[in-house]
Amino acid sequence: MTGIDNASTGADVLTTRFCALAGVRYPIVLGGMGPPSTSPELVAAVSNAGGLGILGCSGLSPDQIRERAKRIRSLTGRPFGLNLLLFSASDDAIAALLEERPRVASFAWARSDQDLAPIFARAKAAGCLVVHMVSDAAEARRAADAGAGAIVAQGTDGGGHVGTMGTFPLVPRVVDAVAPLPVLAAGGIADGRGLAAALMLGAEGALMGTRFLATVEAPIPDAVKQVIVASDGYDTDLTEIPDIVSGRVWPGALARTWRNGFLREWAGREWELRKCRPEAAAAVAEARAAVDVDRMPILFGQDAGLIASVEPVPVLIERIAADATRLLQGGRTPG
Ligand SMILES: Cc1cc2nc3c(=O)[nH]c(=O)nc-3n(C[C@H](O)[C@H](O)[C@H](O)COP(=O)(O)O)c2cc1C
Repeated sequence: MTGIDNASTGADVLTTRFCALAGVRYPIVLGGMGPPSTSPELVAAVSNAGGLGILGCSGLSPDQIRERAKRIRSLTGRPFGLNLLLFSASDDAIAALLEERPRVASFAWARSDQDLAPIFARAKAAGCLVVHMVSDAAEARRAADAGAGAIVAQGTDGGGHVGTMGTFPLVPRVVDAVAPLPVLAAGGIADGRGLAAALMLGAEGALMGTRFLATVEAPIPDAVKQVIVASDGYDTDLTEIPDIVSGRVWPGALARTWRNGFLREWAGREWELRKCRPEAAAAVAEARAAVDVDRMPILFGQDAGLIASVEPVPVLIERIAADATRLLQGGRTPG
């Protein structure tokens, strides 16, 4: 069953099973991006606008997770999600996330030897909808068998850590692999056309990262938002360089990263970067502190080429929903 099958007519074309499961008006989801890319304020803005805000909790201590969840609750009464990267999450961090009982427990990037079933069972016992992100159909099946309630199919077009298959071929494959479980499409989606296409591919919503980075509410520096606005979408590479610098080995992911001075300096010299990792990490920390956009890793997706300005979240979400609705009702062009 697809999002389209589920929908009726009129404004309801956007009402998918995911909306009911997550308790949201629109099937528009803020991807759980690790700090400092998201904040309780951005998450609450997305949820208050009728989407689902998800806070990236990777790298936060258990106390920070609790504190930020409380802050989200002080800003919105609407459902929200908390996200952890499973390969690096401590048991204490998972426990803190579940104690907060978010509507959605969002996970991604598990190690191949990690047993997902007990983690998902604990999340379900805490009353959460378990949403697991994958970049291939086999991982989707593994998550479905472990009891996930919904799957995010994230294509290589997306920002941050991604796999190798594009969103268009990946989403239908994942939909078929886990049917009847609902699927969200992610990677390269930044507007109503992308949301409408995601539903046509059989997804029940769209999860976006890059588009929400270029919003007024996003906690990243203005200079980074302007890099995304200025990007034509051709200026990113898939690379391990940011992960070599951070010393974190991701299970099977490459980082889609802006091709700036930092990336050009190390491209093709990864072996050398491994030798002087501490110095390179110190230089990156300095560049971040100075917001030197040419010398720091900046991760975003190919859909940056679709983003023309920094906008307030409520305006963005209403436009995406209105454009997708018009297209799904048979209109040829948004707006
Ligand atoms: C800067 C950045 C950080 C991210 N961090 C995480 C993370 O911690 N956990 C996660 O599940 N996904 C993370 N993602 C991936 C997003 O959740 C989402 O799948 C991706 O941004 C979708 O592609 P798009 O950027 O083209 O919308 C991150 C993405 C970006 C751009």
